[in-house]
Amino acid sequence: MGNLPGVRSSAPKPPGRKTRRPLARADKPPGLTFPARCRSSAASVQPSRSPVPTHVWRLTTTRTLAVRIADALTDGEIFVDADAGGAFDLGDGTWAIEAYFPEAVDPTDLAEALVELIVGEGLAAVGPARELLARANQRPLGPADWTEIGLDALPPIAAGRFRVFGEHNRPPTLRRADLLIEASTAFGSGDHASTQLSLAGLDAHLAAHPTTRVLDLGTGTGILGLAVARVRPATQILASDVASVAVLTAERNRRINGVGDRFRAILADGLADPRIRAAAPFDLVLANILPDPLCRFAGPLVPLMAPGAALIVAGLRVGEQARLESAYRARGLHLVARRSIKEWASLTFRRP
Ligand SMILES: C[S@@+](CC[C@H](N)C(=O)[O-])C[C@H]1O[C@@H](n2cnc3c(N)ncnc32)[C@H](O)[C@@H]1O
Repeated sequence: MGNLPGVRSSAPKPPGRKTRRPLARADKPPGLTFPARCRSSAASVQPSRSPVPTHVWRLTTTRTLAVRIADALTDGEIFVDADAGGAFDLGDGTWAIEAYFPEAVDPTDLAEALVELIVGEGLAAVGPARELLARANQRPLGPADWTEIGLDALPPIAAGRFRVFGEHNRPPTLRRADLLIEASTAFGSGDHASTQLSLAGLDAHLAAHPTTRVLDLGTGTGILGLAVARVRPATQILASDVASVAVLTAERNRRINGVGDRFRAILADGLADPRIRAAAPFDLVLANILPDPLCRFAGPLVPLMAPGAALIVAGLRVGEQARLESAYRARGLHLVARRSIKEWASLTFRRP
């Protein structure tokens, strides 16, 4: 169990992963009840305070420090707030932090603020922290840099082994764990922490368990069920949603992700639909909805799970975990994993 730092991949950079706040990108539709913006580094799409960053700041370090420093720089935790930034996996065991600032930042002040942060959090001792920050480099942005940070260069979202692309950053070929998601007005572009937590939980689950029948409850764009379909070619996925736009979007995404008829999206409210009961028992249920319906579904859902099946729920805040835990424990499930990104949480349960 543990926290999942925000990780994203970057198409134009060296192969690898990146956590970042992209520059001046419109929010994806957040869904009916989710906030338009959340402050998770992995999930948020924050507005650019300045449309024109003038300086880029870079530093290479370990993954832990890179992710933490990139978060601090883009979440306004220190005296400067980058317009955009992130942490890139350079593929050689090191990570690069990159931050775009609206104006030049005093390097000494920035270094001291970051030293204080990482020393304060026990991530480094003072000496090594100072040595590390002394290696940072800041330079003015030239015209050529804009091609690098424009919309076309937005990195895909990464969670676990999955990478989620949109049309704007679609790679020439998709790897098996890559998804192409057109969000339309359905929820599930991958930007939201709850989706990323679900993907991370899914990745961990699939790595350790055979999975043949999956229910993706509240499928939105189909992102979670399609992620299973991409990496588990023998798995049947029933994806349901109460919103017809979601079902249409999931169906379109099914086609563009080439998963054939193993993924089926149906319009259904909750679990009463006979097609859901007919497809049971499931050995994995994914449900990124909201705490109230998730608690309500505990009664009808657990009997649809096979013995040994897993349930990954998301869409809840950290403070709402206890309510979910007790609802599902009361139905006999065991909590096996807990994840969070900032205030968002996800829980993985198992039926004995
Ligand atoms: C937060 S979105 C999750 C979308 C996607 N699964 C993801 O992880 O990004 C929740 C979805 O659940 C759907 N939903 C809400 N209540 C539902 C219900 N009672 N039955 C089925 N779907 C529901 C919404 O329409 C929405 O598409």
